[in-house]
Formats: sequence, C-alpha cells, structure tokens
Amino acid sequence: MDPRLTIIERRLKDIKRIIAVSGGKGGVGKSLTASVMALIFSRLGYKTGLLDLDFGGPSIHTVLGLKGALPREEKGIIPPDAHGIKFMSIIHYAGDNPSPIRGIDISNAMIELLAITRWGRLDFLIIDMPPGIGDSTLDVIRLLKRAEFLIITTESRVTLDVVNKLLNLLKELKAPIIGVIENMKLTRSSFLSKEIGALDVPFLGEIDFDSGLEDAIGNVDHILGSYSKDPIC
Ligand SMILES: Nc1ncnc2c1ncn2[C@@H]1O[C@H](COP(=O)(O)OP(=O)(O)OP(=O)(O)O)[C@@H](O)[C@H]1O
Ligand SMILES: [Mg+2]
Repeated sequence: MDPRLTIIERRLKDIKRIIAVSGGKGGVGKSLTASVMALIFSRLGYKTGLLDLDFGGPSIHTVLGLKGALPREEKGIIPPDAHGIKFMSIIHYAGDNPSPIRGIDISNAMIELLAITRWGRLDFLIIDMPPGIGDSTLDVIRLLKRAEFLIITTESRVTLDVVNKLLNLLKELKAPIIGVIENMKLTRSSFLSKEIGALDVPFLGEIDFDSGLEDAIGNVDHILGSYSKDPIC
C-alpha cells in the first residue's frame, strides 16, 4: 500500500466539507464557479481552501488575479493566502511552463500534492476539476472519499449528454452529488432543468451569461460584483 494515502487522510481530517466542482465538458465554467464559491464562502467567514486539480490547464490563478504567491515549507507545504482563501495549484511549481503529464503521472502528482499540503482546519475545500470524466474523477473518489460533486453545465444537449455519463458514474460509485448548476444561460428555455429533474438529481439554479465577465477576470471585487447580480449567489 502507498503510505501517502494514509498521510492524505490525516491531512484532510480537519476539513468539514470537500466540494469537487466538475462537469465533464470543457469550458462550461467550472473554474469560475469554483473561484466564486470559494470567494463567497471566505467572505461569509468560512475557512476556505481552493485546490486547482486541472494540471493540464490550471486557471484559478488567472481568475483570481494571483501572481508570485508561493507556498511555505513547514513539515509539508502550507498553501499561500489568496484573498483570504488557502490556494493550492501546480502553478506554484510550474509557473508559466506547461506541465504535460499523463495517465499515472497525473494520479501521482495529485497524490503528492494531497500528501504534502497542510490545509489545517477548513470549513470548505473547493476543488476545481479538470474537464473529462475519467482519471481525475476516479482519483478524487478514491482519494477523497468525502468529496461531494457539484456539476456545472451549459444548456447544450451535447454537454448534457456528457453530464449524464458523469452522473451515472458518480451514482454507480456512490459518490455524493450536491446537484447541477446551469451556467452561461442565454435563453429562457427550461429543458435542462427538466432533464436534470428526470435524472433524480437536484437542479440548483441558473447563472446567466454575463457579457461583462471577461473584463472582470483577475479582479475579485469586480467578479463578485458581476456574479452577485445573479440570484444563485
Ligand atoms: N456565466 C458566465 N458568463 C460569461 N462568461 C462566463 C460565465 N461563466 C464562465 N464564463 C467564461 O467562460 C470561459 C470558461 O470558463 P471556465 O474557465 O471557468 O470553464 P471551465 O469549465 O473551468 O473550463 P476548462 O474545462 O477548460 O477547465 C471563461 O472565459 C469564463 O470567464
Ligand atoms: Mg477549468
């Protein structure tokens, strides 16, 4: 047995809830939602951690406008503070260099990161998942048994097809599902909420497409200003 797995359990024992923001499809708003959730929880006074598990395309640091913050080494790694959030990402180590790792190496990098990171006491650990429903999802279920999945989707039938597969996988593996959020909504169609309802999964609400969001990226106050206009927050 890999001794790091026991260390991971110890590292996570003081975290009340672990929420993996997933969706299967790429570009549906997982990173943005994970970042906004972490910011809102932190501003509400909850101790919050944010883990970017998208090793191939980490983007939380861009959303939050972070530059140069480095973790501290002390019997492990203490994540740097980002706007009141403990933030961990491969970006701390790889910088702007690509990290083209695959297969078992991705699993190993995840195990390593989870084994070295000292989160301490947290109310919430939010995980930004990479696109796809394969390795990383299975690893999170295996390594972080308490992880609850929050699914982000758009109102596309193509995306819904992937969400369906992801939900089936999570149900099959008995992973907790918080529910589904429809992001970047452009129409008043309710087909998605009905489809999700038919799958017996909570439909949590809709976030409109926000044409001003791109200008707010990198500025957390502007992002929160933009999002707080939406009823879901
Ligand atoms: N509600 C929204 N309104 C407008 N733009 C949005 C909205 N949500 C996300 N975006 C934009 O859509 C793009 C994709 O968002 P994001 O990077 O969060 O998606 P993702 O699911 O994490 O993508 P990936 O699968 O590549 O990791 C970003 O440019 C983001 O700013
Ligand atoms: Mg992302």
